[in-house]
Amino acid sequence: MKDRLVTELSTELESFRQAGTMKEFHGLQSPQDALARMAGHGEVLILSSNNYLGLSNHPQVVEAGIDALRRYGAGTGSVRFICGTFEIHGELEHALAEWVGVEAALSFVSCWTANEGLIPTIAGEGALILSDELNHASIIDACRLVKAKRMTYRHGDAKDLREKLRANAGVGRKIVITDGVFSMEGDLAPLPDLVEVCQKEEAVLVMDDSHGTGVLGKTGRGTAEHFNLLGQVDVITSTLGKALGGAAGGFVAGPKALIGYLEQKSRTQLFTNALPPTVAGSAREALRQLQAHPEWVCELQEKTRWFRQELRQAGFAPLDGESAIVPVIVGDTARAIRFSREMLKRGIFVTGFGYPVVPEGKARIRIQISAAHTREQLARAVRALAELRAMA
Ligand SMILES: Cc1ncc(COP(=O)(O)O)c(C=O)c1O
Repeated sequence: MKDRLVTELSTELESFRQAGTMKEFHGLQSPQDALARMAGHGEVLILSSNNYLGLSNHPQVVEAGIDALRRYGAGTGSVRFICGTFEIHGELEHALAEWVGVEAALSFVSCWTANEGLIPTIAGEGALILSDELNHASIIDACRLVKAKRMTYRHGDAKDLREKLRANAGVGRKIVITDGVFSMEGDLAPLPDLVEVCQKEEAVLVMDDSHGTGVLGKTGRGTAEHFNLLGQVDVITSTLGKALGGAAGGFVAGPKALIGYLEQKSRTQLFTNALPPTVAGSAREALRQLQAHPEWVCELQEKTRWFRQELRQAGFAPLDGESAIVPVIVGDTARAIRFSREMLKRGIFVTGFGYPVVPEGKARIRIQISAAHTREQLARAVRALAELRAMA
């Protein structure tokens, strides 16, 4: 049986190779930053990281991780309710809740497990969950675990959402879930419309703000702050693995009763270890740094606007948006992968995304801007892309 499995998987892997769609893994030999040393490529400009504020190698963020490791050791060796919770978890959760403007928060080892720990737990039998059709894979998979009725609504379409909610008016608990920033398109959820529809139709609104946290709003509080709607989204999930230090971890933030309920019932809380104290310590410090330096968020927003403009001037048509994700459509999957390979030869690391992550024919280079980038570095990227445009 094992031999058969190996043969089948090897054949499939070979077909990825033949089609030019095989993902490549690159070894980094220095910390993640605007520039990093990559095995076989030397120093490369990183344009594919979610290290939006450049905090993953910030000296105080690193130091806070070391300090937490010294103070608490590697971990409890079990689940929080069985083996205890470190103070750093409580501190981090308290700070996160205050920052996003809700009563309480609960950390998880990733935003993936935060979504998976939240959605099936609150969408039990008899409920209805409505999810934007372009939501992140973690939400799609979490929705697959629900016993409730589940449906998608058209991407960013509050009208379609309202119609579907009205058609299910008899359902007791209605839950709507959306990304704040859509990770492949870089566009934002139409939050003002979603808030209005959910309030009118008495649905709970959940927003995963993984790509909005630290990026959007005047002070980086995310998509809700961007739309002047702080405190109006019922439940927020987000990651600590992007702007907030870039290590790992995620959280759910919302009313105290929800967090209390998740502590009792969420499977990805009750049956898995807590966030390592090292990571909790670094994330806590990353948040402190962000709160002390809201100007970094402005810098990031300005650099992204400027980069989009430079791309347009060079003849590209990046997808519109206000996030730090700038997708440039290049055609089919193999072309996107070839594009990123050629960029790497020029010392620039950008990832090509193709089918099945995005529809065939809409494969893209996804460029992600960080406050750590200089304009010179960004201009270099535009020049390299322009050079490659003629490539078949
Ligand atoms: C919208 C969204 N949600 C969740 C995740 C998963 O985050 P994590 O790496 O913390 O599991 C991602 C990561 O790519 C994301 O983009």
